[in-house]
Amino acid sequence: MRLPYSRHSVCVIALITPCPSSSSPTSVTAQELFEGVIAIYQGRLTRSNIEVRHSFCARSRILCFENEIRQVLSNLVGNAIDAMASGGTLCIRSHDATDRTTGRKGVRITVADSGSGMSPRTVAKLFEPFFTTKGFNGTGLGLWVSREIVTRHGGRISVRSQENRSSSATVFSIFLPLEAAAR
Ligand SMILES: Nc1ncnc2c1ncn2[C@@H]1O[C@H](COP(=O)(O)OP(=O)(O)OP(=O)(O)O)[C@@H](O)[C@H]1O
Ligand SMILES: [Mg+2]
Repeated sequence: MRLPYSRHSVCVIALITPCPSSSSPTSVTAQELFEGVIAIYQGRLTRSNIEVRHSFCARSRILCFENEIRQVLSNLVGNAIDAMASGGTLCIRSHDATDRTTGRKGVRITVADSGSGMSPRTVAKLFEPFFTTKGFNGTGLGLWVSREIVTRHGGRISVRSQENRSSSATVFSIFLPLEAAAR
């Protein structure tokens, strides 16, 4: 079977595939995970005229490799900013949840933006490696790596998006089990 990627691409994938972190997992809340991420993007959020709304209802702590999960949240926030070139609203929420299929308790995190939204074709491809609509400004690896990280934590990531919507054009949702790093 012929792979859709060149040998060079496969080498790059091998290099950037997240490996289990050597540090120990820590117990953190969704709010703690987001604090550093928002601080990093504060300048871009202000310059882009983006209002940030948050509602951290989750009480539970997640045992996870927090730097890896921050990398995921950072990519979601970065993508949302890119999608709101002429300003908008970024809504970040967390609440305690139970996974419907496994019954495991965990935390659901959502990142919603009022940006451009995505076509059905983009939604279908966005977790593929090297898929980007940003030309030289994107590698197209952010969501692919994000899904790897969430999956290795025993969680799930999903998206819904619509073009030409005034609010919540795109919503990414992540479920992380409480013992996400017990692997
Ligand atoms: N919130 C969003 N609104 C609109 N489009 C999005 C959003 N998030 C992701 N996308 C689309 O999904 C594509 C893939 O996203 P991904 O994060 O994997 O790569 P990228 O952002 O293009 O590049 P990189 O993350 O490497 O900088 C983006 O190019 C964009 O088309
Ligand atoms: Mg990205």
